[in-house]
Amino acid sequence: MNILILGSGGREHTFAWKIAQSSICDQLFVAPGNSGTDKIATNVNLSVTDFEAIKALVLDKQIDMVVVGPEDPLVQGIHDFFLNDDAIKHVSVIGPQKEAAELEGSKEFAKEFLYRHNIPTAAYESFTKETVADGYKFLETLNAPYVLKADGLAAGKGVVILNDLDEAKAELKSMLVDAKFGQASTKVVIEEFLDGIELSCFVLTDGENYKILPTAKDYKRIGEGDTGLNTGGMGAISPVPFATEAFLNKIEERIVKPTIEGFKKDRLPYVGFVFIGLIKVGDDPKVIEYNVRMGDPETEVVFPRLKNDLVEVLQAMANGTLDKINIEIDERAATTIMLVSGGYPEGYEKGKVISGVETIEDSIAFHAGAIIKDGNIMTSGGRVMAITSYGETYQEAIKKSYQNIEKLHFDKMNYRKDIGFDL
Ligand code: AMP
Ligand code: GLY
Repeated sequence: MNILILGSGGREHTFAWKIAQSSICDQLFVAPGNSGTDKIATNVNLSVTDFEAIKALVLDKQIDMVVVGPEDPLVQGIHDFFLNDDAIKHVSVIGPQKEAAELEGSKEFAKEFLYRHNIPTAAYESFTKETVADGYKFLETLNAPYVLKADGLAAGKGVVILNDLDEAKAELKSMLVDAKFGQASTKVVIEEFLDGIELSCFVLTDGENYKILPTAKDYKRIGEGDTGLNTGGMGAISPVPFATEAFLNKIEERIVKPTIEGFKKDRLPYVGFVFIGLIKVGDDPKVIEYNVRMGDPETEVVFPRLKNDLVEVLQAMANGTLDKINIEIDERAATTIMLVSGGYPEGYEKGKVISGVETIEDSIAFHAGAIIKDGNIMTSGGRVMAITSYGETYQEAIKKSYQNIEKLHFDKMNYRKDIGFDL
């Protein structure tokens, strides 16, 4: 079968790497892709939200399955677009339909879903411009720190956590009244602050059955010791050492099962990946957020541990036969370290030549913000490349990644040297 992956990050290179190993896949396309996918698939330069261009490509290349990497096309309804068009409705789309993608597209929708299905999460209330004064009053009833979330998609920047009540009120006003995040902050969710360590759980579903993939932990802050600005993710580890069997059981019973049951009860059409952001409070898991896609850089450590043929798994998701699949996991740990452009997540320069990629041994370089230009691999984004390694322990895997990073170079290359420090 012919497969198209939408997206251009390290996550999509990892999907392509895994799918390219499948004997079921004939031709593999990635749109727009990067320098990593260029080596193992055919890159097609189009926007992941240009549905008409995607349709034309699907028809031209006789594509049988579209795997959606990022959330934007899902929240904009790419799956529905396919189902509503006779020419392409036979194509399998991996990713939920628009109504279900609201779990990531709207924080309020997600909170209402969690409450409706009694899934543990932080207490909250939501506010609009008209009710901003009630928002101030609600903040006064809470203890610091104050968690404010823009309701809609805000490129990962929509969550603000503040220690000072006056600052929190000012932030609320800025979001609601001054439209700090544009449309995304028309509504704001204010949440109880949860104190604990975070981890992520990845679930596959065909809408009826589910399978759980290995847990992972990512490192979101730019600075060592988890300091500084939030990024898309600076590194990841799988499995999560503190996620014991007893804790994983709690996640499955209290969170995964009611989530999948909730999709059915609410008639939310869901064929795809559910990324559940969790926080361990005491010994109990609580949900911080849902994402309707795989994580990046979590995919770079989760998929390397999946022994199954990924295309077989994706087909079972599309056909509603996930119960027939036995997920097999590599016992080894996997870790990834993200190389980023100097200045990221604020302003940074692009177009720097990346050298040393071919000298990497015993690690995998998943390309992210990198493209091929004039025969060179060049930086084209903030997060440039994720260096993944296996090890008997996560410490051993991390060591291998750092040894290989020594061989890589580009001007102003930056990375965190303490991934795993808190475990
Ligand atoms: P989100 O976009 O909802 O994942 O939030 C981004 C980050 O903010 C999370 O990864 C957490 O580190 C933090 N966060 C979100 N909600 C809470 C909460 N209720 N309590 C503590 N930290 C939170
Ligand atoms: N690494 C976090 C995310 O993919 O949203």
